Amino acid sequence: MSLISPDVGTRLKPDAIVAVTKIYRELCNLQPDTNVLVLTDARTPDYIVAAFQGVAQAMGADVVRLECKMHAGGATYQPASLWSPMVVAASERADLIIDMAAGYAEFIVAAVKRGCRILCPGDGIGGGYMDDVLIRTVLHTDIHAIRRHADRIAARFTKASHCTVITGADQDRLEIDLTGLEGIAADGFLWDPDRKDWKSSWAFLPPAQPGVLIPKGRGNGVVHVDGNLLYHSLYMDNPKTPIRLEFRDGKLVDIGGDPVLSNALGNWLDRLNDPGSRLGPVHLNVGINPNAILSQSQEWERVYGSITCGMGDLSLLGLLMGETPFQLPKSLVHWDWTVVQPRILLDGEPMVERGRVLIP
Ligand SMILES: [Fe+2]
Repeated sequence: MSLISPDVGTRLKPDAIVAVTKIYRELCNLQPDTNVLVLTDARTPDYIVAAFQGVAQAMGADVVRLECKMHAGGATYQPASLWSPMVVAASERADLIIDMAAGYAEFIVAAVKRGCRILCPGDGIGGGYMDDVLIRTVLHTDIHAIRRHADRIAARFTKASHCTVITGADQDRLEIDLTGLEGIAADGFLWDPDRKDWKSSWAFLPPAQPGVLIPKGRGNGVVHVDGNLLYHSLYMDNPKTPIRLEFRDGKLVDIGGDPVLSNALGNWLDRLNDPGSRLGPVHLNVGINPNAILSQSQEWERVYGSITCGMGDLSLLGLLMGETPFQLPKSLVHWDWTVVQPRILLDGEPMVERGRVLIP
């Protein structure tokens, strides 16, 4: 599948204001007098940041916008980024952080532990056409149907004890033990409008990619990656032919397939000299947003019927999702791979095939 270009217009789309209002009202339950910190960097255009600032102000919130430096690399290097004490200090006074810059960071974990809520409208870091992504995937979709679907899939993951991912011409299998793991909806909602109660402390957009966080030592077999690879480069690469990844006991032991990207990935991992970077899969998630596309925004992880697995660090993401009794993989990096249309079995029952999610 080729890369699809989104709408990269450079003016404020009125629809972006409507999308941001929907996000504050329906996903954040924003109330007057909430202290909102809009944290950003130069990767997100001013008119998008201004929409998040202005709409919150219009709803009665006390809003401060803080633009920090761009940290080197994209989401991959977030676990090792060092943050200015000024940013940390501002975060300590916030009730809600609209995070377009940090993603996985210790001060964000600390904010969550204090009771602050975090929404990442651009999935950790922002980007040039976040408005287009939010209009397509939040404003122009039934986000409540997606939320309820994500809840049902998360419940199925909780019930399951085994997941099989089948890819490639030879129907190779990646087997993952899910025993004792709890499914996560990962639907972008801080607030549950059905239960009229808070749903999560940390959420990212667009919705949704229900799945599981995977402790150390699980995952055996082979997967052929034909979607995206998020690694050293700022955002993602798209292999011309599938990359073959082989896992043994939760560790990447061999890289093959697409010669260009498999060499680039192998060389990067060798250069890192960080054994934690080869641990994984550390999370497994199924995309269920019908309007998400394979762009350079992390909306690609929500492409309907796809699967995305993370590699490397889980210690920060794991804490953002709540306490876990399992030992979480640690690394200086977090990278991801996506298969666009895998076949997935849960306890031997088909769950995803030919781009269709079979859990109703
Ligand atoms: Fe990931």
